[in-house]
Amino acid sequence: PQPTRYEAENATISNGVVESNHTGFSGTGFVNYTNAVGGYVEWTVTATVAGPATLRFGYANGTADNRPVNLAVNGAAVGDVDFPGTGAWTSYAGVTTTVNLNAGTNTVRATATTANGGPNADYLDVG
Ligand code: GCU
Repeated sequence: PQPTRYEAENATISNGVVESNHTGFSGTGFVNYTNAVGGYVEWTVTATVAGPATLRFGYANGTADNRPVNLAVNGAAVGDVDFPGTGAWTSYAGVTTTVNLNAGTNTVRATATTANGGPNADYLDVG
């Protein structure tokens, strides 16, 4: 089946703002994390069955520096995800990782771990 897309601009945001000045995004904009540790985007996603699910994060990073985030699923940290540079803020890419979800509602929180903050977050696809 097709993955379900959850736009970052519709997620819960801490220390970030919704913007739309760099074209190429999905939906109506993206989240610009504050350039600081600790900001996050938290999506509420639904899974039909419990078990592994592929997460694909759409993003842009117009710098040369990785912007890793720590991923937490339902409040439990599951590791870091790298968001390397995409060449320009208008160049969007996707990174994937696999996590275990519960059947029903889950939270997926991506928290910035460096002083640069996270990448510009566009969406989360849940497969
Ligand atoms: C620039 C860019 C923003 C980006 C920011 C950053 O200001 O226009 O979209 O979020 O850099 O470094 O995070």
